[in-house]
Amino acid sequence: MIRSVVRGFGSALPQRVVTNKEMESLVETSDDWIVQRTGIRQRYIAGEGETTASLGEAAARDALQRAGLTPDDIDLVIVATSTPDNTFPATAVNIQNRLGMTKGYAFDVQAVCTGFVYAMATADAHLRAGMAKRALVIGAETFSRILDWTDRTTCVLFGDGAGALVLEAQQQEGKVSDRGVLTSHLRSDGSHKEKLYVDGGPSTTGTVGHLRMEGREVFKHAVGMITDVIVAAFEATGTTAEDLNWLVPHQANRRIIDGSAKKLGIPLEKVVVTVDLHGNTSAASIPLALSVAASDGRIKQGDLVMLEAMGGGFTWGALLVRW
Ligand code: UT7
Repeated sequence: MIRSVVRGFGSALPQRVVTNKEMESLVETSDDWIVQRTGIRQRYIAGEGETTASLGEAAARDALQRAGLTPDDIDLVIVATSTPDNTFPATAVNIQNRLGMTKGYAFDVQAVCTGFVYAMATADAHLRAGMAKRALVIGAETFSRILDWTDRTTCVLFGDGAGALVLEAQQQEGKVSDRGVLTSHLRSDGSHKEKLYVDGGPSTTGTVGHLRMEGREVFKHAVGMITDVIVAAFEATGTTAEDLNWLVPHQANRRIIDGSAKKLGIPLEKVVVTVDLHGNTSAASIPLALSVAASDGRIKQGDLVMLEAMGGGFTWGALLVRW
C-alpha cells in the first residue's frame, strides 16, 4: 500500500526573542508566574517584513534542502494557519508562488492549534489517493498580530514561527513496521466556540479581531480530549505506549503535556518539549518541535512518533507516524 513517508523537516523563527522578563514591562505578570503555570520562558515575535508566508517559505526551503529536493519536485502545498497574510488568497498559494512553483496545487487548512495534525492527515489522504506524489506540509503562524497586548491572560502565552515536513508517497507493505503515516484521528466540537476564539472576521466585524480565551475552561478539557485520540491511534494500529519512541505534542502548556503523558503511561523522557523556547505557536508548534528533536538526533529514521494537538473550535487530533 501507499504510505506518506517523511523525507525532510525544516523550521523558521522570527529574529526577535522576547523573554518573560521583557513581558513584565508590558503587562502585570512575572517570570515566575509564566514559568510555573505554563513552562514558557521565551517566545519569538515577528518584526517588520516577517509574515506567516515569509516564515512558512523559509521553513519549506529548509525542509526541501534536508530532503535533497527542489520546489519542482513538489505537487501539493498545504499550510495550516489561523493567521494568514491575507483573508485570501490562501497562504499556501502565496508560498507556492514564493517558492517559484508553477505546477501542482496549494490550499490552507484552518483548525487552529490542531491545524498541523489536520494538514498532515489531509496531505496523507491526497497522497494515498494518488492525487499528488510529494507534499509540503507547513504549520506557520504570527499569533502576535492577533493578540490583545493589554490582556495578560493571553499575550504571555503565544509566539510566532513555522515548521514544515516533506511527505512522499511510497509503496510500503501495509504493516505497522512501515515507514510513514500509519493512522490519523481528527475530532471537532463547535459547541466550545466561546472558550477560545477571535472576536473579529471578514463576515462579522470586517476586522481581524483579537484572540480571546477562557484558559481555565480550555485546560479542563485538554487532557481528556488529547488522551482519547491518542488511545484511538494506538487501538487502530495495535500499538501501545511502550512501542512509542516519541510523543510530540502541541506545545501550549507544560502542565497539559505532562498530564497527558502521565495519563497514558508515557515516560517524560519520551516527550519532546519546546514550549519553553517557542511559547504556543499554534499550528506551527508540532513541526517546530519535530525539527528541534530531529535535528538534535533524538528522532531517528524508524522511530514511532505520535503527534497530538487540541485547540480552538474545539478541534483535536492525533497522528501516528513512523519516521
Ligand atoms: O493552544 C490552544 C489551547 N490552549 C491551551 O491549551 C491553554 C489552556 N490553558 C492554560 O494553559 C492555562 O489555563 C493558563 C496558562 C492560560 C492559565 O493557567 P491557570 O492555572 O488556569 O490560571 P488561571 O486562569 O486560573 O489564573 C490564576 C490567576 C488568576 O488570578 P486570581 O483570579 O486567582 O486572583 C489570574 O488573574 O492568575 C492570574 N493571571 C496571571 N497572573 C500573572 C492570569 N494571567 C496572568 C499572568 N501573570 N500573565
